[in-house]
Parts: sequence; C-alpha cells; structure tokens
Amino acid sequence: MNTAVPLPPPPPRRFETFLSQDGTHELFDKVAALDLFMHEERPGYLSGLGLEMLGAVRNQVELREKDGTEHEVVMMGSNSYLSLNTHPRVVAASQAACEQYGYGMGSVPLFAGTSHLHRELEKRIAAFYGTEEAILFPCGYSGNVGLIASLCGPGDVVINDAANHASIFDGCKLSGADVKVYIHNNMRHLEKILRGLPETQKGRLVVTDGVFSMDGDVAPLDEIAVLAKRYGARLMIDEAHALGVIGPTGRGTAEQFGLQGKIDVTYGTLSKAPAAVGGYCAGSATLIQYLRYYARSYVFSSSLPAPVVAGLIEVFDLMAKDEAGREALWKNVHYLVSRLKALGFDTGATHSAIVPVIVGDEDKLSGIHRDLRAEGIFTSVVTYPAVRRKECRLRVSLMSTHTRDQLDRTLQALETLGRKYGLIA
Ligand SMILES: Cc1ncc(COP(=O)(O)O)c(C=O)c1O
Repeated sequence: MNTAVPLPPPPPRRFETFLSQDGTHELFDKVAALDLFMHEERPGYLSGLGLEMLGAVRNQVELREKDGTEHEVVMMGSNSYLSLNTHPRVVAASQAACEQYGYGMGSVPLFAGTSHLHRELEKRIAAFYGTEEAILFPCGYSGNVGLIASLCGPGDVVINDAANHASIFDGCKLSGADVKVYIHNNMRHLEKILRGLPETQKGRLVVTDGVFSMDGDVAPLDEIAVLAKRYGARLMIDEAHALGVIGPTGRGTAEQFGLQGKIDVTYGTLSKAPAAVGGYCAGSATLIQYLRYYARSYVFSSSLPAPVVAGLIEVFDLMAKDEAGREALWKNVHYLVSRLKALGFDTGATHSAIVPVIVGDEDKLSGIHRDLRAEGIFTSVVTYPAVRRKECRLRVSLMSTHTRDQLDRTLQALETLGRKYGLIA
C-alpha cells in the first residue's frame, strides 16, 4: 500500500509569481519563467490589453487586434473625458507651438527646458485653483513620486487611502517614510490611525485621490480635511480624474466640498480630461519653490514639449470658463449609469466619468471583453494588480462627445453579454 502523503497541488501561476524574488534567483529567471507561462497559460484578458489605435482617440476609433485584424469600435475606454485631445483650438495651438518651438525642449526645467509657455501654463493652473503658484511635472506618475519623496522622509508618516493610485504608493516607498493605509474611504479607520501616531511624529501627510481611478467614486474630502487638521497632518489630494469633471465648475473635489484654497497640496495629472501628458502641483509659493529644487522628478527629468504645453494652455482656458464640455459629459454619465443600474449591473459607487462594471471572474472578464470588441465596443479591462481579482471588471469611461446612439449600442451589447455571462438575470 502506498502510504506517501500526496504533495499539495502547486499554487496557481499568476502575476505575482513573476515578481522579483528574494535574491536567491538569477535576475532573468523570472523573465524566462514569464515567457514560458505566456506560451502555456496566457490569460485571455491579455488579448484586450495594448491594442493599437489607428487614429486619434475619439468616441469612435479604428483599432488593430493582436491577430492583426482591424475594425471600428465605439471608444468606451479613454480618459479623454472631454475629448480635448481633438478639440480644434487645442490642436491648432499645439501645431503653432510646434512650428515656433520645435517638438521637444531638450532640457530639464531648471536649465533650458522652461519656455514662457511653461510659465504661462503654471500661472493658469495656479489661477484655476486659486493658489499662489503651480509647478509642472513631465509625467503624472513621476510627479507623484517626486512630490511625496521630496516632502516626506524617514521618520515622517504618509497615511493613504487603500485605493490611492500606484504612483502615490511608489512615492511613499521611495520617501522612506512610514506608510499607513486606511480602508477605502473609511473615516473611522483614518481617525484610528491618526489617533495612534506617536506625539513626537510631527511630519504627517494624509493623501487621497479625489476620484478613485478604478471605482470612479469620490473621497469624502470634507471629513478627511477635518481629521487631517485635528491631528496636525498636511493634506494632499490627487485630482487626476476629478479635474474638469467634478465640482460645480469642474475645478475638482475641493470645489465640490467648498474647500478650494484649503488643501495644502493639490496634485493632478494632465493626462485624463486634458488628454495630454504631465503632472502638476498647485499650492503656496513656498511649497512650489521647495519642489522646484527638491522634487527629483522635476529637477532631473526633461520638460514637457512646448506643443503639449501650448495645447494645455487652451485646455485650461476652456476649463477656467467651464466651456470644456462638462455638462454634456454629465448628461452621458447619468444616462449610462442609470440604465446599467436598471439592468442590474454592479457599478459600485461611481460618481464620475469612470463606470466600473464588476465581473469578478477573470475567465468571464476575458470572454465578455472579447465579445464586446466583436460587437464593436471597446472598454478597458481591469484586474490584479490594479484591483483585487475577485473585483475584476470592465472599466467603462464616458466622453462628452458620445452620442445617444453610441451609448445605446454599448448598453445593448452589455445587456446581451451580461445575460450570457450571468452578470445580470
Ligand atoms: C489618480 C492618478 N494619479 C496619477 C496617475 C498617473 O498619471 P499619468 O498616467 O499621467 O502618468 C494616474 C494615472 O492613471 C491616476 O489615475
């Protein structure tokens, strides 16, 4: 009789399996292991990642699938919520700047990388938020990293919402500060963490996204601000997905809660509603001065190209007058979300242009995303590490320029596939 105890089954191989290990493996072992995995067990949802767009990303776009087939889709997966990437005034300004300044700056901001257009954009961003100053970063991701790592260091503490963007967590890691995480939007947990900090730990920063990038819900900034003040912490908000969308005139979460001018560090990206690239911080003149010399992703990274900056000046001109298309966007948000809910989809607590459609099973997610593309609808496909696997989802994003017909086609396809995959009854 065989008395050997059977070995437990090997753990499933997944994204985490191929992360850096503890120094016991040659560095390229994981590279080869991932390649093998891709050949043997390539997860289906990967076929929907990194597809090629064959023209400007508008509400409708031609794209190329991984197998080389090309087809037109309704674009329900862009962060260009206000379609400003193709706005005639924005494009014209960008073209003119390309003629005048060339297509790149060829230098970091503190050397030859600051044109008067860069200063103009910084002034407009400061005026938009009612702060003394603003600073541009070459990238939204690196801006968060440079900002947090310059402001905080060993001995300080950064207190994060669990759903904050990865760039915020990476900035925390690089800073060397203590990192605490509170349950998403849970104010009791935030307070418990703040109350538990040692009296001597004076360097405290509370950071929250304004609109959360995978859920589309909004931070309770009024309550966060009260707690930060009560416990002597500075408050930083990342307005990436709130800019141009949230608040009575699109000035973001602080405007929504009547807190404009009361946030210590207002951060945002130029890549969502502004539909370009870059990051910015708006705040006091002394804070911005500090960042110009200590935020390493500003000091050691080349400036935004002038054609991008010129386009962004037009973007902020439109946004400052609230003429960038916010109302049309919200009409579309209300229409799509109310109908998805009526159909029985789980769309979380969204209150923005980001609408999650929770699937919760990666195989189903792969199937539904593939079938949607076949129906001519493109959404983003999201799973670990962006969200937990059991909350994997389609990330539907709305644009001000979506037509009622495009929204109805999206709803029709989602209804059919939602039934097919058992997401709705
Ligand atoms: C909240 C938030 N912050 C920062 C970033 C990084 O911005 P970018 O993509 O412009 O580098 C993102 C991007 O997804 C984001 O959602």
